[in-house]
Amino acid sequence: MLIDSHAHLQDRAFRKDLPEVLQRAREGGLEKIVCIGYDYESSIEAVEIARQYPQVYAVVGVHPHDAKTLKDETIAGLYELAQDPKVVAIGETGLDYYRDLSPRDVQEKAFIAQVKLAQELYKPVVIHDRDAHQEVLNIIKKEKAGKNEGVLHCYSGHLPLAIDLMKEGFYISFAGPLTYKNARKTVEVAGKISLEKILIETDCPYLTPEPLRGKIKRNEPANVSHVAAKLAEIRNKPLEEIAYITALNTKRVFRIND
Ligand code: NI
Repeated sequence: MLIDSHAHLQDRAFRKDLPEVLQRAREGGLEKIVCIGYDYESSIEAVEIARQYPQVYAVVGVHPHDAKTLKDETIAGLYELAQDPKVVAIGETGLDYYRDLSPRDVQEKAFIAQVKLAQELYKPVVIHDRDAHQEVLNIIKKEKAGKNEGVLHCYSGHLPLAIDLMKEGFYISFAGPLTYKNARKTVEVAGKISLEKILIETDCPYLTPEPLRGKIKRNEPANVSHVAAKLAEIRNKPLEEIAYITALNTKRVFRIND
């Protein structure tokens, strides 16, 4: 059984056929899917989907791209949403210095505010980091962001950073880019860190893995099997073992007990 630890099922790409997408996931052996919010509205939608489908869990938060939409009321709203038992973490939050869609100081403030919210709720945080490795690590250390553990999603950093992050209480999650030809650095990290700290995800509708990349318009949870297969190849382990361990890790970090 597989778990997709990071999917955006509320994305409009799934608006027309979510039941069919979830059916294919079930047929593909997916036990659970974690649906991640990226702004207040999409966090509400994540909780709605999680309430509707027993196999779906929700994470609520505001993505660094949308950091400029985060107000004091948004934090209060996320706090309320997080009272739902299906909400397992706060995120995705973090820093994106690649696209810089919100000013960097605004991204940092929103990141710190959501780390504090997670701490107040005793929940883990799901972190997005693009081209901001050192800054993300600095904030994690300063704010003790890994106090209730957390996930570095779609990991793209090097090995020493992954080791530092794990010391701070973080799991490392790999998405479709692990299967890409230019993934040498990411493959090295996936090959060397403790298997007990690895999660897999699709980040759908984005980041379609090989061999489907460029062939389909939209990624979906069932395709997490390709990330699992790549990890199995890198670690030289049976696919079933990789599926089992990464699912167990996901349940551990998100405190999912069934
Ligand atoms: Ni995402």
